[in-house]
Amino acid sequence: MPTKSPTPLHSVETASRDEIAALQLTRMQRSLRHAYDNVPHYRKSFDAKGVHPDDLKQLSDLAKFPFTVKSDLRDNYPFGMFAVPRQQVSRIHASSGTTGKPTVVGYTKQDIDNWADLMARSIRAGGGCAGDIVHVAYGYGLFTGGLGAHYGVERLGCTVIPMSGGQSEKQVQLITDFKPDIIMVTPSYCLALAEEFERQGLDPAASSLAIGIFGAEPWTNAMRVDIERRMGIDAVDIYGLSEVMGPGVASECIESKDGPVIWEDHFYPEIIDPVSGEVLPDGSEGELVFTSLSKEAMPVIRYRTRDLTKLLPPTSRSMRRMAKITGRSDDMMIIRGVNVFPTQIEELILRQPDLAPHYVCVITRPEHLDELAVRVEMSLRFVRAGADAHAAVARQLTADIKNLIGVSANVELSLPGSVERSLGKAKRVIDKRATA
Ligand code: DLL
Repeated sequence: MPTKSPTPLHSVETASRDEIAALQLTRMQRSLRHAYDNVPHYRKSFDAKGVHPDDLKQLSDLAKFPFTVKSDLRDNYPFGMFAVPRQQVSRIHASSGTTGKPTVVGYTKQDIDNWADLMARSIRAGGGCAGDIVHVAYGYGLFTGGLGAHYGVERLGCTVIPMSGGQSEKQVQLITDFKPDIIMVTPSYCLALAEEFERQGLDPAASSLAIGIFGAEPWTNAMRVDIERRMGIDAVDIYGLSEVMGPGVASECIESKDGPVIWEDHFYPEIIDPVSGEVLPDGSEGELVFTSLSKEAMPVIRYRTRDLTKLLPPTSRSMRRMAKITGRSDDMMIIRGVNVFPTQIEELILRQPDLAPHYVCVITRPEHLDELAVRVEMSLRFVRAGADAHAAVARQLTADIKNLIGVSANVELSLPGSVERSLGKAKRVIDKRATA
């Protein structure tokens, strides 16, 4: 079999920081003007803050401009944030929002082209090469995962299997028969697929898969280790959000696995204090904010992602990286005043070899005080260990949560398969307080 040689990197991936900053400044000036001239919302919000696109003389001037939040997109539903006539919009996607109106995003032909390039760059960073077979199990449809991945796979010169999410039995059959090199899927659904392999009497680590490109939901490095061992693959992290583009805003390099590289030639990142809105220096933990630098149909200026992370210096590429997302501010549980993210619980669960990484946090308030229950599955092997052993493991996890996170949790060990499996993004928090 001929050995595959990786596609060369784009020159911007190895450019100097000065070159990147110069490109960002030109593109940012253009993007601010495009938004101001063509989107009434931006004209109004810039005017209200007394700023004009001409005020941006250097990158740090961006801090003078107003933020954009999800409700701005909702208030301008469906097409009010578009900066080009609708006839130039060649594709629409929308967020899966559980309540109310979805947030709608649009793309011109050029936007789709740039997205395909960035997804190809992301898959390349993850170790993909032209000629690979890529199984896409992100959902197709209004969600950006499936189609976003699809176009990138084709752009890199790979063979795409557009499987979408669900039909686990069939997924396993196709992986077995088509022998893909790469899978693109949410980490939680990958675990469901690993179980399906086992249910069919197959070892998931013996499949043809060598690489998994995982994103769309928070996942920890502990989960990475678990998935890599179980599936016998290298697991890399891909980040993105529909409002900013979709998957491929940032993606991790297989050689360093040290956090997704932000494709800074197209997206300018800032980290802000989520309360004061003040811009924080690189390395500080805060909320990630993006300004698009090339988008035509729907430029976003200082879009608040609600994702908490920090910016890290460049390593494998010339662009800055982001640390793994700790969580979304929407997913943060406040238990009797203590802030807790599901990812913190996940790390502790994965320290216990007798537990499986299928869990959900349930919050109630029975007597005016918050109660946190962590429902987590036992591994199949451990079910037979008996009640005493189960109680000991539950006690240990309770103690770890108390000592390392600082909250009291009621740990409930449950049988394999009892925690609902997601076909896409896992739901880790059930908050019953509002309805209690
Ligand atoms: O989830 C786009 C995507 C698809 C990314 C496939 C990666 C792979 P949305 O549905 O708009 O878009 O959700 C965006 O998902 O703000 C984060 O909270 C979360 N998220 C996405 N990627 C990651 C990741 C897609 N790698 C929201 N780690 C974002 C942690 C992630 N959270």
